[in-house]
Amino acid sequence: MEATAIEPQQRIIVALDCDNGVEALGMAERLSGHVGAVKVGLELFNAGGPQTLRRFVETGTRVFYDAKLHDIPVTVARAVAVAARTGVWMINLHATGGSAMMQQAEAANAELQAPPLLIGVTLLTSLDERALADDLRVSLSPLHYVVHLAKLAQAAGLHGVVASPREAAAVREACGSGFLIVTPGVRPTWAAADDQKRIATPAEAVADGADYLVIGRPITRASDPLAAAMRVAEELA
Ligand code: C5P
Repeated sequence: MEATAIEPQQRIIVALDCDNGVEALGMAERLSGHVGAVKVGLELFNAGGPQTLRRFVETGTRVFYDAKLHDIPVTVARAVAVAARTGVWMINLHATGGSAMMQQAEAANAELQAPPLLIGVTLLTSLDERALADDLRVSLSPLHYVVHLAKLAQAAGLHGVVASPREAAAVREACGSGFLIVTPGVRPTWAAADDQKRIATPAEAVADGADYLVIGRPITRASDPLAAAMRVAEELA
């Protein structure tokens, strides 16, 4: 079962949220061997481009490219195929792009020689119950909407989803054991919450069914990032 087969340190995906590729590579080097992967998001990607992804891959670092793709099916499918050429380990797209978009992306991905894991973003945690109801006119609660989108992503053949720790247990129950759950909003008890509101500790998130934990500032802004990463892994062991 996927949830129990991952080594504690391999579960940690460090979010390298900065606009400086040299700084990000330095951080990845410091944490090498003590975390499972790094996450390159829109800020770092737009600072350094696909070359940034390649540089990490060349150093043997697993990369989660947090691309959050959302467009018509053919465009997303082609973007996935091109992004995958950099050798990244995981790419995400918005599940709200719909079944056809996810299915075409999955089909394009499956044709690749070394396809990355394809992960659906369910609901951004910045969207609360009010925004979902009033802005997007979605009548489901955030929890039910996330579970619905996770099932849609699974039916389209995606490998897993991004969901908050709050929804991880319900997604695990709805989608079963082989489906990956990646959770941000994770905070060890010894770290500041920063701007994260719906937080869980690393151990709680994994107990609720998370496979991978996206952790940024508690590690990258720690006075000793390597010690912080090791402490998280110890807590997961
Ligand atoms: O520093 P921190 O641990 O809060 O970083 C969390 C990372 O996860 C950031 O890159 C953030 O953009 C991302 N994220 C999040 N909440 C979501 C989705 C992604 O915090 N719902």
